[in-house]
Amino acid sequence: MLRMTETATEVQNDTPYFPMDRDMRCPFAPPEGTRLLREKNPVSQVEIWDGSTPWLITGLAELKSLLKDSRISVDESREGFPHWNEGMKANVAMRPKSVFNSDGKEHSHFRRMMTKAFTPKRVNALRPFLQETTDKLIADMLAGPKPADLVTSLALPLPSIVISQMLGIGYEHHDFFQENAVKSVDRYATPEQNMEAFAAMFMFMYELVEKKMAEPTDDVISDFAIRARDGEIDAAEAAQMGLGLLIAGHETSANMISLGVLALLQNPDQLAIIKDTDDEDVIANAVEELMRYLGIIHNGQRRIAVEDIEISGQTIKAGDGVIVELASSNWDPRAFENPQTLDLRRNVVQHTGFGFGPHQCIGMMLARAELQIVFKSIFRHAPDLAVACAPDEIEYKSDRLAYGVYALPVTW
Ligand code: HEM
Repeated sequence: MLRMTETATEVQNDTPYFPMDRDMRCPFAPPEGTRLLREKNPVSQVEIWDGSTPWLITGLAELKSLLKDSRISVDESREGFPHWNEGMKANVAMRPKSVFNSDGKEHSHFRRMMTKAFTPKRVNALRPFLQETTDKLIADMLAGPKPADLVTSLALPLPSIVISQMLGIGYEHHDFFQENAVKSVDRYATPEQNMEAFAAMFMFMYELVEKKMAEPTDDVISDFAIRARDGEIDAAEAAQMGLGLLIAGHETSANMISLGVLALLQNPDQLAIIKDTDDEDVIANAVEELMRYLGIIHNGQRRIAVEDIEISGQTIKAGDGVIVELASSNWDPRAFENPQTLDLRRNVVQHTGFGFGPHQCIGMMLARAELQIVFKSIFRHAPDLAVACAPDEIEYKSDRLAYGVYALPVTW
């Protein structure tokens, strides 16, 4: 944002505003402004909604270095924390401690309880269920009228069914949690709307924890409830962990599925690689490249420095806000040659689409399995799948924490 001096003759402050807009002529690219900033310095200050000027990290090496640095904290209650919006700031005291807002030993304590259900072994055991659910959703879509909306037919229900089943939440609640999850992370939600959505979901989860404390079943929320019953954590913490998994576990994968299908349809030479192979490693690599290229976690992960840090010729002072921009860093040309090209065969292991360091995504093995199965299956069942609208009719979720499309009309 450019502001002028009192005499309006001289630019006094050229600190750019964040988040920045994407150029809709190239909807998969991170905002041009983040590229320009990285060229100036991958560690640069930006202005955010409350007028504060945290550091924005747009380079892959710098981002990785900071995300594993113990002088960087996710403690959102610290003065100077660069909150996502006014609602997140206003309601900070409402949110119990969890993996999302704790550091060090406290974080490991919560994280250990959550990772059990998402190990590679547990996720591999789920693959037949993921495949069966995917096949059924695709078959139902193909049996219905054309065009169909890929978001409501496949992209959103698949991860929602899976996470509901794992957590032990009846899928009949999906409208409730899908709507409130979106409201609780809407950039433009008022503090009241944010609070209302959070409180509704928190109460729902708290009641479920209480129910499962009395009568545990074989699912993740029961596991948290048993720990709460045994005094290892309290019921509010158990509810908050369940809520974190529920929110993180469906909206993200849903956006990746719909945006991924769209990107593949727009890049037929790359789509051919998926269509022509039975090699699981090729599919797995394709998913990683789509994770890099699409940058759905695009509004900056929030952190705060607890000590001074020297990086990239800058001094991040203790108490300064830090925003790490995963999407933009995954288009850093110092790390990826021609980052603007979707290249499903590139070596992409170093991407940070699932984050990096101690807070790296807990559900990434599950998300990967869902994405591998969907991208492989949809084009087997519907080899002629095509977008059923003009490119400029597609609406992108620029206002949401996770990028994606609101709807994707497809035909076959
Ligand atoms: C394509 C889908 C997904 C993407 C792109 C994604 C992305 C991410 C990213 C970037 C982070 C790091 C946040 C940070 O450092 O601030 C993260 C953390 C997390 N994700 Fe995911 N995620 C996905 C799917 C899932 C699923 C399916 C689950 C659960 C079932 C899940 C649960 C979590 C949790 C609990 C954390 C917090 C970890 C911590 O703070 O220690 N995610 N995710």
